[in-house]
Amino acid sequence: MTTRKIHVWSPAELHRHLNEGSRFAILDVRNRDEFDAWKIEGKGPIQTLNIPYFDLLDLEEDEEIAAAVARAVPERLKDRLPRSGPILAVCAKGDTSTHVAEGLRRLGYQAFNLEGGMAAWGDHYEMLVVEETRRLTILQISRPARGCLSYLLSSGGEAMVVDAARHTEIYTRIAAERGWRITGVFDTHLQADHLSGGVAMARALGVDYWLHPYDSIHPDDLLPATFSFRYVEGEMVFTLGEVSIRALHLPGHTLGMINLLVDDRYLLTGDTLFIDSIGRPDLGGRANTWTPLLYRSLQRLLTLPDRTVVLPAHFSHMREADEQGCYRATIGALRNHNDGLRMLGQGLAAFSTYILGSMPKYPQSYDDIRRVNTGLLQVDETKASELELGPNLCAITSHEAE
Ligand SMILES: [Fe+2]
Repeated sequence: MTTRKIHVWSPAELHRHLNEGSRFAILDVRNRDEFDAWKIEGKGPIQTLNIPYFDLLDLEEDEEIAAAVARAVPERLKDRLPRSGPILAVCAKGDTSTHVAEGLRRLGYQAFNLEGGMAAWGDHYEMLVVEETRRLTILQISRPARGCLSYLLSSGGEAMVVDAARHTEIYTRIAAERGWRITGVFDTHLQADHLSGGVAMARALGVDYWLHPYDSIHPDDLLPATFSFRYVEGEMVFTLGEVSIRALHLPGHTLGMINLLVDDRYLLTGDTLFIDSIGRPDLGGRANTWTPLLYRSLQRLLTLPDRTVVLPAHFSHMREADEQGCYRATIGALRNHNDGLRMLGQGLAAFSTYILGSMPKYPQSYDDIRRVNTGLLQVDETKASELELGPNLCAITSHEAE
């Protein structure tokens, strides 16, 4: 290990600290609008200070940045940083914050730099085992900074990827390590909050990409997808090795939303049902007409046995995870604890009032993300990162709504 690495937290280390609820503070030196749009969040509150770099210091000619930080911090921050416990310096790409952390250490603080900054944190993935038996393995692949969840299902040496993120090497690497052959790639719906890796991965592997046809049309442009794909229909049954997977057509969040019932026990709900919340029905610009669809879809979900384990495509807070860090809950548990499901019992009118009054703002980037996901727009890596900046806002309760 190099000396530099000692003073660095990788995104994986940051995730570990967040997951364990470690006590630390954050000094984020990005601009205020960047910070307001997206910050590091854990299971509980984190003492976080946002002081934009240019407000923090006036660099004198030929002055070393760390020296300027050491000069500015006592004067400008006074006692606003904790003297005990780690402080994580954060910036957009992890370069400026290296010097900030170094300056803080010269003042005696226990400071670390977030390696790669928010860009690396945004692209970090974690893997958790949901189920691992001889018949069936289900892996939950999370992208913690964005609250995105995707899945690798495997049985009899075959594997299926569901709701793949654009960094598809995470799935192909895991499949290769485990000796699985990916035979199908599936999107539960046309994703609006992140760029899907589904089409590219299916093409690279020479396997089928599955999508409900309703979700192959951009809801604003009303233009069809430019790629070919296999149509998923409601009640279609797929066989993966020794298990069967039933597709349930449950419109509401999108018109072509599909949930996958795996082995009659696990339900991959896409953006229909989350742990704390439910999917927002307004992303197609038709909240009034799509809300009754969502209402009926959620009612249908509640006819499934209580033991059915819900595996959603998103989370809004790390506290939604169980003790193992996995985002899952049974229908029986959600029936009583999920706010959206509890509202179902009050009838469509009350449900609609609740939904339409709980809608987070509409992120403009979602229009272009869907253009990319239907093949109507091509973007480079810089634009892709820009579109995916910030947490997902697919649930009706959001960070802002709190
Ligand atoms: Fe979605």
